[in-house]
Amino acid sequence: MTDPLILGIETSCDETGVGLVRGNTLLADAVASSVDSHVRYGGIVPEVAARAHLEAMVPTMHRALDLAGVRLSDVDAIAVTAGPGLAGALLVGTAAAKSYALALDRPLYGVNHLGAHVAVDALEHGDLPTPLVALLVSGGHTSLLLVNDIARDVRTLGATVDDAAGEAFDKVARLLGLPYPGGPVIDRLAAGGDPSAIAFPRGMTGPRDAAYDFSFSGLKTAVARWVEGIERAGKRIPVTDVAASFQEAVADVLTRKALQACREHGVADLLIGGGVAANSRLRALAGLRCAEAGVRLRVPRPGLCTDNGAMVAALGARVVAAGARPSSLDFATDPGMPVERLTV
Ligand code: KG4
Ligand code: ZN
Repeated sequence: MTDPLILGIETSCDETGVGLVRGNTLLADAVASSVDSHVRYGGIVPEVAARAHLEAMVPTMHRALDLAGVRLSDVDAIAVTAGPGLAGALLVGTAAAKSYALALDRPLYGVNHLGAHVAVDALEHGDLPTPLVALLVSGGHTSLLLVNDIARDVRTLGATVDDAAGEAFDKVARLLGLPYPGGPVIDRLAAGGDPSAIAFPRGMTGPRDAAYDFSFSGLKTAVARWVEGIERAGKRIPVTDVAASFQEAVADVLTRKALQACREHGVADLLIGGGVAANSRLRALAGLRCAEAGVRLRVPRPGLCTDNGAMVAALGARVVAAGARPSSLDFATDPGMPVERLTV
């Protein structure tokens, strides 16, 4: 029997994503981004994002169906991001998903965006091993998770106590006068800099700190103070060295704690997901440290790390396969949806 065809819809932030998935096979991944409309504000403007989703939804849906070479009537089930995310943006995606589900008479599953960042890796590397430690690093979240079953059993080992890793990239980029989103720009500039040029602090790595929690706000402040010092001295800011040293501090702490979690929980598989998982230094350092520790590493290709609809379809496929009950057509979005709540 062939696996059901799952349609996934993502609108939690600034990407309108529509994906089509069958089992672990990715059939289409269409994304429209409103990022260009936010650049001049230095961050996402929620109302602008919601309006852009409204305009992009139907064209992106048609693009995904064309890419996959299927018709709407071929879809067996629909998955949509129910949270976490921007309230207005989530409403557009869930309203669309509910409309398609009602019109097509297909089951609807409201799923967790963070779980989807983990589930997406199955589209590239096959079924997720269990148990699995997942390092989830996005613009809004930074957590270490113990995943026993991505459709039903995810536990939080630790999380950031202040800024998310992606937020730190975005804020540091901003203070360096670089455009939003900062992650990709810093990644690019860091390639030409010296990661050991400046010894930026490694937050929450002291012996009394919670082993699996993170803090990036002190690092961001340290970068700001350092840059101010250079400006006061009337010198030119060595942007590539600052980018490389900052990026090194983030990648160092993330990989150190992730591997500690694997070791202390006796887990042999680590997965990194979320937008920051696209970072080249994080990927490289995780590769080195996992090899040393005998831990198998899975990181989706960069295009699947940042927000997209295929990841939502991927989690939907797991949820359907687990025999979960569909969500009711009047389910509410949950902007603060905790990662342990995989479906609504
Ligand atoms: O997962 P995502 O696409 O959206 C959220 O769910 O938040 O993550 C977006 C975040 C942004 O903060 C962006 O700067 C960061 O991911 N990001 C990166 C890279 N590409 C995207 N951070 C570091 N290096 C990158 N190459
Ligand atoms: Zn995301």
